[in-house]
Amino acid sequence: MALQQKGMHGTWASRWTFIMAATGSAVGLGNMWKFPYVAGINGGGAFVLVYLGCILLIGVPVMMSEVLIGRHGRQSPVNSMKETVTDSNANSKWRYVGWIGVLAGLLILSFYAVIAGWALDYILLMSSGELQGVNGSGAGAAFENLLASPLRLILWQTVFLGLCVAVVIGGVKKGLGLAVETLMPLLFVMLIILLGFSFFKGNFQAAFDFLFSFNLDALSWRGVLEAMGQAFFTLSIGMGAIMAYGAYMPQDANIGKTVLIVAFFDSAVAIISGLIIFSIVFATPGLEPSAGPGLMFISLPVAFGSIPGGLLIGATFFILVSIAAWSSAISLLEPCVAWLMELKNLSRAKANLIIIFITWILGLGSVFSFNIWSDYSFMGFNFFDFLDFLTANIMLPISGLFITLFVAYVIKSEIVSFEMQGTSGVILNLWRIAIRFIAPFAISLVFIMGVYDNFVS
Ligand code: PHE
Repeated sequence: MALQQKGMHGTWASRWTFIMAATGSAVGLGNMWKFPYVAGINGGGAFVLVYLGCILLIGVPVMMSEVLIGRHGRQSPVNSMKETVTDSNANSKWRYVGWIGVLAGLLILSFYAVIAGWALDYILLMSSGELQGVNGSGAGAAFENLLASPLRLILWQTVFLGLCVAVVIGGVKKGLGLAVETLMPLLFVMLIILLGFSFFKGNFQAAFDFLFSFNLDALSWRGVLEAMGQAFFTLSIGMGAIMAYGAYMPQDANIGKTVLIVAFFDSAVAIISGLIIFSIVFATPGLEPSAGPGLMFISLPVAFGSIPGGLLIGATFFILVSIAAWSSAISLLEPCVAWLMELKNLSRAKANLIIIFITWILGLGSVFSFNIWSDYSFMGFNFFDFLDFLTANIMLPISGLFITLFVAYVIKSEIVSFEMQGTSGVILNLWRIAIRFIAPFAISLVFIMGVYDNFVS
């Protein structure tokens, strides 16, 4: 067994490119669209506390394990997992873990592109000035109009997937690397501008109180499961994206420190987005924090429309969301593309087109769940909600659990010591405790209680 492999896809230019790529993957619709409304529905502060606990105790250790496997295998998640399993002389069934990840990635990308399409549509809607002074029912009607039009949704879903192909087709250095090096600094600048705006023009204090006052009564087991699912989703773990990116990480980069930086950026962006959104929403009388998925697309436009110059800021906000979604979606596409290239010896371009076509078709299911299929439901979910719940709350925790167990108890110890060189003793020990004892137990408990709460009781 060689401890250091050479992959066919190349490596990032530096550790910073990995950090930006992984942060780009992590920061996305999960932070800006989902986190604020799930926190809103689950009562704010208590949810945020559990969520941050999940990030630190489960998310970071699982993420480190994923990067480790990826960097050891230096291939797509499916083959990196296979390679690591073989090198550890482990039961070959472990390799299926890589499969759950790639499958979850494909499913997530299919609905992710539809929501990202909404954000693209809203850049134009905001810039058109149509929503100036709009009230709640006007903004609601504008959003319903979008959802009711399959063609408009398909158009934007297609544009968004096209943008993803445009990046991934360029390969690791010239495609993904270049994209994240350009997009991430832009994203941070825009975020700071919006934070400044919401601080001076919004009700910042109310937003702060809402996110940081702990009211444990508002939280159910289902809420805890959602917090954990959200931690997995937002860090892009349990599904191969981080494993795929880890495969391109330079060998001398320190896994522990790097992952902590990425998790810090990701949590900071989620909290800042929450502060921005709630400051603006709370500044407008009559708007509710617990507005559900419509929070970003109904409450915010009302708030932006009521502030002088607000629509321009609104358009900037939706550009920011689109960029965040774009840099995440490319990390959902890459694992599948890399795997198909390895499997069939296909060119990057061909692999891209095949995967994008499958994703596009699957995505139509999500498009239709907002209009022509809205009456069909399965276990109480429409097609879109079902995919969202299945991936974030079931598939990601299960695959995260097995990745952790594999790295904690099965993998050959030389591989771990080789990949963890440079990670400081304290972090290494804490990580070992977390993956051996805390994460598997916490994931299983939350998973069982959450599923029980959702389906049985
Ligand atoms: N982390 C991304 C977000 O928060 C979503 C994502 C999940 C991206 C899994 C890649 C892999 O929006």
